[in-house]
Amino acid sequence: MSSIIYPRQIQYLENFRKKDDGLLNEMEEYARNFKVPILSWDAAAFIEQLVRIKSPKRVLELGTAIAYTTIRIARNLKRKSEIHTIEKSKDNIVVARNYIEKSEEGEKIKLFEGDAIDVLPSLRKKYDFIFLDADKEDYKKLFDYSMILLKKGGIIFVDNLLWHGFTASARIPASYKTSTKFIRDFNDVFMNHPQLDSTILPVGDGVGLGIKHNRKQS
Ligand SMILES: C[S@@+](CC[C@H](N)C(=O)[O-])C[C@H]1O[C@@H](n2cnc3c(N)ncnc32)[C@H](O)[C@@H]1O
Repeated sequence: MSSIIYPRQIQYLENFRKKDDGLLNEMEEYARNFKVPILSWDAAAFIEQLVRIKSPKRVLELGTAIAYTTIRIARNLKRKSEIHTIEKSKDNIVVARNYIEKSEEGEKIKLFEGDAIDVLPSLRKKYDFIFLDADKEDYKKLFDYSMILLKKGGIIFVDNLLWHGFTASARIPASYKTSTKFIRDFNDVFMNHPQLDSTILPVGDGVGLGIKHNRKQS
C-alpha cells in the first residue's frame, strides 16, 4: 500500500516512537495479523494531542474496529468525560469489548452495536469531539449527521482523506476508483462546509480537522 510521505521520513519519525505500551503493541499486532484497519500510529498520536488540548467532555467515534483509538482517546480524557463509539461488525465488536476490558478504561467507554446510520438518530446529547472513521461510502451521510451532533466550537476529525495518495493522483488502481471518488466528493463538502473551519493535513493517511464555528452563514 502506498503512503503519502516518503518511507525514509516515516522511518525517521518512527525512531522517536515509544514502543513500551504492551496493550497497544498487542492491538497493533492483532490489527496487522487479521488485517483490521486502525488509525496509523502518527495520526493516533495527533488525535491524542488534540484531546489533551481540547479536554472534551463527550467524544463520539464512528467506526470502533478493535477499539485501538477508542482506548487511546479514553486514556487522555479527564475524569467524568466519556467516549461513545459505534461499530457494526460483530467480529470486531467481540475483540473490541475484550480489549476495552483489558485497558481498564471501560468506565469511560460506551460501545454501541450496529450501523452508525441507524444509531446516530437515537443519540440526543451533543458532542465536543467527533472522530469519523467508517466505510468511505458512508462518510457523507455520517458527516451530515455528525454536524448536527457536534457542539459549536467542537472538533470533527476524519481519517483517510488522502486515501493512500489516490485522491491527489491521476492514476488510480481499478479497485480504488469508486472509494477515491467517494473521498474526493467528501473532501469538497468538508472543505467548503459553511459551518466549519476545515483543513486537511498529511498525517497518517491524510486527516481532516474541522472546527464548528459560531459565525452567521452569509
Ligand atoms: C478504519 S476502521 C476503524 C478504526 C478505528 N477507528 C481505530 O482507529 O482504531 C473502520 C471500522 O468501521 C466499521 N464501520 C464501517 N462503516 C460503519 C458504519 N456505517 N457503522 C458502524 N461501523 C462502521 C467497520 O466495521 C470497521 O471496523
